[in-house]
Amino acid sequence: MSVQKAYNSWAESYDEMLNKTRDLEEKVIRETLDGYYKSVVELGCGTGKNTAWLLQKCESLIAMDFSEAMLLKAQEKIESKKVSFKQQDLNIDWGLPEDSVDLVSCSLVLEHIKDLDAVFAKASKILKTDGQFYISELHPFKQYSGSKARFDDGNGIQELEVYVHHITDYTEAAAKNGFKLVQLKEWFDDDNKENIPRLVSFLFQK
Ligand SMILES: C[S@@+](CC[C@H](N)C(=O)[O-])C[C@H]1O[C@@H](n2cnc3c(N)ncnc32)[C@H](O)[C@@H]1O
Repeated sequence: MSVQKAYNSWAESYDEMLNKTRDLEEKVIRETLDGYYKSVVELGCGTGKNTAWLLQKCESLIAMDFSEAMLLKAQEKIESKKVSFKQQDLNIDWGLPEDSVDLVSCSLVLEHIKDLDAVFAKASKILKTDGQFYISELHPFKQYSGSKARFDDGNGIQELEVYVHHITDYTEAAAKNGFKLVQLKEWFDDDNKENIPRLVSFLFQK
């Protein structure tokens, strides 16, 4: 099943099912981003877990995702003149003006994207100088041990197509596209550092 189809079928239960990764990331973004932004682009907004919160922190927001069912869920929840939802495959041109955005935010999406460099290039293109790029993903240690996005569609567990990205894949793609690393953090279940970290987050600046 393609990733897009999988998320279309996951959309109905995504918010309700037990999902430690989703819930930890909700905390990570809130602890990481403390600014107020004129213009924000959210990559892979899904059902809008972070969209409403980001809207409180900006004047305008473009929330993109290629799954129409995930987008529909987000749209059902969020009513604001400040947001526009856009069905968009992140692997192709985003159709946004250059140097126009203050923050690009990306939560739990890049494990589905093979070409990290292309995403960093697109983010760099639309960000203003000093603009920020927030990324939070399943930690590669978790990926090495076999964790990946999966859900029960009623007929059994569906595992989604994922790509392993090492920490240096992110930092090298960032450097190549003119970003400097502002913050790198690892996040653990129950803040317990005896566990393998569940998430890694990066804050880059153009
Ligand atoms: C695990 S969900 C995360 C959703 C949301 N950011 C969150 O943290 O709850 C991953 C999202 O990325 C989207 N996605 C994956 N690959 C994509 C691509 N190539 N283009 C656009 N969206 C994509 C999926 O449709 C899905 O909504």
